[in-house]
Amino acid sequence: MLLERLGIEVPVVQAGMGGGLSRHELAVAVSEAGGLGTIAVNGAASISRELAAARALTGRPLAVNVLLPFARRDWFAAAAEADVVVTFWGRPRRRHPGTWLHQCGSVAEARSAQAAGADAVIVQGVEAGGHVRGALAALELLERVRSALPAGYPLLVAGGIAEREDVVQALEAGASAAVAGTRFLLSAESRAHPEYRQRLLGAQDTILTELFGASWPAPHRVVANAATERWLGRDLRGPLLNRVINRLLAPGARYTPAALQARMITAQRPSGRVLTPAAPTDDGPRTLLDAGPLYAGETVARISDIKPAADLLRALAP
Ligand SMILES: Cc1cc2nc3c(=O)[nH]c(=O)nc-3n(C[C@H](O)[C@H](O)[C@H](O)COP(=O)(O)O)c2cc1C
Repeated sequence: MLLERLGIEVPVVQAGMGGGLSRHELAVAVSEAGGLGTIAVNGAASISRELAAARALTGRPLAVNVLLPFARRDWFAAAAEADVVVTFWGRPRRRHPGTWLHQCGSVAEARSAQAAGADAVIVQGVEAGGHVRGALAALELLERVRSALPAGYPLLVAGGIAEREDVVQALEAGASAAVAGTRFLLSAESRAHPEYRQRLLGAQDTILTELFGASWPAPHRVVANAATERWLGRDLRGPLLNRVINRLLAPGARYTPAALQARMITAQRPSGRVLTPAAPTDDGPRTLLDAGPLYAGETVARISDIKPAADLLRALAP
């Protein structure tokens, strides 16, 4: 049973939302309410600090998210102190003996994660917010992955989860648990900039683009802002030159010194071609509201409030 393995009662996982959008406050609130909360920050020191802050507040299980394009060896050592490690975007490989989940966007990727020893895979649908790995709707990919992997192998589903009925549908389709990002981004405990949250509350539509791909040239789902207005025309991926620059910056992503990354993020403007994946946090530069990605999934059209994460978890519980 996956829930026993994860040590949780409610089959709902709060997605790791990177660059510090989901830190200990959110993860603790979700885990305390019976789900699995996930910390997502960059760097071994930040992972250790957030995990220690969370451990001081809860004895419940906690997950740490590791983005493979950026992770260095010491990130994994720090993340291994969590009860669960969730990896994303890269070749699935077991890095520690504990519970490990890998988020996948295709049947092939799910197969290779299972073969690499992942304890479960998260099947991510194209409707998801943030970086989008696959091209199929979540429940369609779930069905394909379910038929391709051994019976009983635990699957979680991400994308399109904002209400109890979504969780029920996912469980009925064979998932052991559901993963929600955007719904928890719009919580009291998320570290998204307050205006980022307000803009999402007013949004109906999302854009799947590659615009904010400097150092991580990968598709991501956002709501419109000044940068998308400036750069996106008919081709929603963004101008070719921007995409070439993004690709050229990618190999160095893991080794770019933190101070240089911080300078690039602070200098980011809607008119610039170098647009990093850093989203506006409540302690980051305000300029990112117009120059950075306002990540959101398609469920944003159905969300009209910001609530404490514990209330959200209770509302999602089947
Ligand atoms: C704001 C935001 C940031 C995200 N950042 C990450 C991340 O750092 N690592 C990761 O594995 N997934 C990330 N995701 C994707 C989630 O893991 C998950 O697939 C997605 O949130 C599911 O779709 P939903 O947002 O509609 O619930 C992010 C999603 C959002 C909305």
